[in-house]
Amino acid sequence: MAEHVIALDQGTTSTRAIVFDAGGRIVAAAAREHAQIFPRAGWVEHDAAEIWTAAQDVLERALADSGLDASAIAALGITNQRETAVVWDRRTGRPVHHAIVWQDTRTQPAIDRLAGEHADYNRFADLTGLPLATYFSASKIAWILDHVPGARADAEAGHLLFGTPDTWLVWNLTGGERHITDVTNASRTLLMDLATLEWSDRMLEVFGIPRAMLPEIVSSSAVVADITAFAPLRGTPIAGILGDQQAATFGQAAFRPGESKNTYGTGNFLLVGTGERIVRSPHGLITTVGYRIGDEPAHYAVEGSIAVTGSLVQWLRDNLGLIAESDEVGPLAASVPDNGGAYFVPAFSGLFAPYWRPDARGALVGLTRYVNRGHIARAVLEATAFQTLDVIDAVVADTGTSLGELRVDGGMTRNGLLMQFQSDILGIPVVRPEVIETTALGAAYSAGLATGVWTTLDELRGHWREAQRWEPQMPGDERDRRIRMWRKAVRRSFDWVD
Ligand code: G3P
Repeated sequence: MAEHVIALDQGTTSTRAIVFDAGGRIVAAAAREHAQIFPRAGWVEHDAAEIWTAAQDVLERALADSGLDASAIAALGITNQRETAVVWDRRTGRPVHHAIVWQDTRTQPAIDRLAGEHADYNRFADLTGLPLATYFSASKIAWILDHVPGARADAEAGHLLFGTPDTWLVWNLTGGERHITDVTNASRTLLMDLATLEWSDRMLEVFGIPRAMLPEIVSSSAVVADITAFAPLRGTPIAGILGDQQAATFGQAAFRPGESKNTYGTGNFLLVGTGERIVRSPHGLITTVGYRIGDEPAHYAVEGSIAVTGSLVQWLRDNLGLIAESDEVGPLAASVPDNGGAYFVPAFSGLFAPYWRPDARGALVGLTRYVNRGHIARAVLEATAFQTLDVIDAVVADTGTSLGELRVDGGMTRNGLLMQFQSDILGIPVVRPEVIETTALGAAYSAGLATGVWTTLDELRGHWREAQRWEPQMPGDERDRRIRMWRKAVRRSFDWVD
């Protein structure tokens, strides 16, 4: 019997394929970056055709490196950057515009118009779980329909299709046969009714989006298609689809209500499961679908989404040239004992959770003649930890219970200085599992569950092994002082858009 699963993780900056064995261990992996296109301040785009090429490349290389025959692969699981909107023409298979990425803020005027004169950004939160924000897919789709000549008429005639990257990849892997997305991805569009798990006519009308463009919504763990148009894996079932943050939660085996994880990627995303209950947050968290297995009821989660964490390190590298490689940020930050008084609020896309301040912009404050490159690097890392503190405070305020420890994953968790500071600032232990590629692992788990590689969630829970733990060491008064300064810096970032 086929006992391996291959996961395709289509992220914001790169696309990876990872082959896992039945013990949830990595057998082979391949990754490829794609271009980040910034046509104007606040605009972020990807070339979806480049992403499809990257996906084929990494799948082929990971499979080859595993030394396995395709017949040893039970299923493919797909996970993806969420919200990013691809619109393509089903007749040609070509995107009609670059994909508009989740970080893109070009649709803020449209969002403000919808919020109305009372600036009611939570108008649709009961229905969708989400505030009105540029972050989610709906306003991006509408922008493409309004700005690409002929697009609206073509969409109304049924020629154009919308999808997040999961949908785009499945459509290509199946030669245009399957136009689907899973419930977790659908829950990020501002177009899905969170209770019925179906597209909402009301929301489609609000954004002026023809229903014919939208994919069919399927479960996160179920055999939903067979690969037909990618030769190395022809005949392999696609059996799992999850948005990347939900996948990371699944990969951390955080299935039960109250279980959580924090992923350190381009941004940071903290999810806390709420089981079959839809929980509304009065403190700036969003409500989202966590996963749905087959025909079972969906499991929900609350989420604290932070737009800029790891991408601030890239900005330091690419825009300032302060470091040549991302990994250099750790040693540079460690060259000084503290931040020297500098605080960096990376509100590049406004601030997401828990503030939801589109009017905020990046602020680097507390500068004196004393501050050097090391202090800036430290402020960059600390910004990630402080933003995480802010969303955890919202979780505590919402649920009335504090977290005993924080399970973490993602690339930045390799940075010991950041993890220690995170534990210091939160005042709780921070725990990292053996496999930090939890996003891909979660996609593999969902696909393997649907194809008999694994049979129960408890079995998956048994794979989770602690690799490292950081305990808080900072004295309480010092911690309080730094948090106070951070909050002051956050206020300085507000009200910057003219
Ligand atoms: O909501 C955006 C998120 O899905 C992006 O994740 O890992 O690509 O930064 P990542």
